[in-house]
Amino acid sequence: MCGIVGIVGREAVTPRLVDGLQRLEYRGYDSAGVATLVDGAIARRRAEGKLTNLRNVLQARPLDGITGIAHTRWATHGAPTENNAHPHATAKVAVVHNGIIENFRELREELIAGGHVMETETDSEGIAHLGTAERDRGASPQQAAARALRRLDGAFALGILFAGHDGLLIGARRGCPLVVGYGDGEMYLGSDALAIGPLSNRVCYLMEGDWVELTAEGAVIHDASDAVVHRETKLAMITGGLIEKGNYRHFMLKEIYEQPAVIGDTLGTYYNQLSRRVVLPELPFDLASVPKITIVACGTAYYAGLVAKYWFERVGRVGAEVDVASEFRYREAALPEGGLAVFVSQSGETADTLAALRYCREQGQHILSVVNVPESSIARESDVVLPTHAGPEIGVASTKAFTCQLVVLACLAIATARARGAIDAAAEAELTHALVEVPAAATEVLKHDDRIEAIAGDIAKARDVLYLGRGALYPLALEGALKLKEISYIHAEGYAAGEMKHGPIALIDPAVPVVVLAPSDRLFGKTVSNMHEVIARGGRILLVTDVEGERHAGDGAAWKLVLPDMHEFVAPVLQAIPVQLLAYHAAVSRGTDVDQPRNLAKSVTVE
Ligand code: F6R
Repeated sequence: MCGIVGIVGREAVTPRLVDGLQRLEYRGYDSAGVATLVDGAIARRRAEGKLTNLRNVLQARPLDGITGIAHTRWATHGAPTENNAHPHATAKVAVVHNGIIENFRELREELIAGGHVMETETDSEGIAHLGTAERDRGASPQQAAARALRRLDGAFALGILFAGHDGLLIGARRGCPLVVGYGDGEMYLGSDALAIGPLSNRVCYLMEGDWVELTAEGAVIHDASDAVVHRETKLAMITGGLIEKGNYRHFMLKEIYEQPAVIGDTLGTYYNQLSRRVVLPELPFDLASVPKITIVACGTAYYAGLVAKYWFERVGRVGAEVDVASEFRYREAALPEGGLAVFVSQSGETADTLAALRYCREQGQHILSVVNVPESSIARESDVVLPTHAGPEIGVASTKAFTCQLVVLACLAIATARARGAIDAAAEAELTHALVEVPAAATEVLKHDDRIEAIAGDIAKARDVLYLGRGALYPLALEGALKLKEISYIHAEGYAAGEMKHGPIALIDPAVPVVVLAPSDRLFGKTVSNMHEVIARGGRILLVTDVEGERHAGDGAAWKLVLPDMHEFVAPVLQAIPVQLLAYHAAVSRGTDVDQPRNLAKSVTVE
């Protein structure tokens, strides 16, 4: 996490660095800071909290300089205070850091023993002192950077300034992405191409272990052994403009309402209107013969993978396992040669998911990713990318990316089923037709927003909420609980409805609302029985069902949300919308910061 941006410029850099930080705020918003070189001296401004606080500081105390670095922080080591905010600096070296330095304690002790005074609790400050120690020993800035880098264990993307070297910026990456942008007599550095989007679209993604010297004339890139190397430049497909909220109160609400359109855009890539069939890009492996599918992701993307497991198994008749990346990467999973590993990620930068991908590559798996950012690290390291076309997702809580992930995975499941002969043409046509109907059906579901808002007003008063679902709706129960807790801070848990009686039913009392996700599918009767077990024990139910389901659900639910009838195959996609809206309105009624909930970041680039 954390976002970094740097400019070696021809004119004042601070406003442009702050603009870059605004684009990177999705990577963390615990604090922000800028450092520039002014007549050879390092000058910096920092502020705790959101970027607006740094803007206020800069308004009161502007910062000159034509070379600078800036940082938006998601705290790992050290509280999110101004003092722990980046850039970290000595009189000679200033550093911005994304990642975690694992050996920082040893380095810190060594530096303190050598007379360095540490001012912060962070793992990053030591990098500035390592560079300073090298400069004190007579090293050039380039030598100081190269030697300091060799002392670091862990993951990092860095931007480094050296006092007395006004036209020089050094960048380095290991484990965290870093992009170099080429301008007209200027050079740029960013955590991603978005950060420098308005400045340059000619970019170079540094490779693992690279470090780079940027001057106004250009970039000299070195590999991990310090040899000068050539790296390809590319045109980034990033727009310069910032994404606006339009008439919506929050990005999250706007993104929820964008779902019919972006699901349609995503489907448009994988559905051929002439043949009326799902069509995938050419794959460098045969879906008919993959022995197993392994799906790995984090958070909401993991729940999309969990839904897909049901689809791959039931529709595709192929064994599928799904795991959270932070567990999978250390599990040493035994994978069959030639298996298919599927990575699902909105950002394409999630550190654990990327590490899991690399493990699967070592294990001889075919690597397929479903990502929303086509230039991301996960996309670039995949054999084949099936992009979601959700557009930029700004709200920290994932909404439209999730439903687009589901749509892509549903297409992959249909293609897999066809390749393996698991479905006949009529069954394929039925499933594909159900998918094609989703954008229109999603529009219908959104019409229930007022009713959901009214129910959310009651749910928002609870301290704990449970979500229940069965089959492919079980992951939606997990997703509903995650959405509610991350933006409203209400404690919530999702359970497989059949698991209730194995423990969680002890939690039932009238103060704990229970959201039951029960479209009229083949498991409906079983889910409804579980619901009545809760009602019998005084539980207050919100039943989310459809017209057919309502007819057979019986009485006793405190609230009912009756959606249009939907095909069982696409019910997880459509039921996502009410759980998103419920969380959204509960959060608004509790007055939380919906788009930037506390302690979170949009892109999780540390493990
Ligand atoms: C929850 C949420 C997170 C992400 C998770 C993975 O609303 O957004 O749980 O889904 O951090 O992120 P990506 O998809 O970028 O890999």
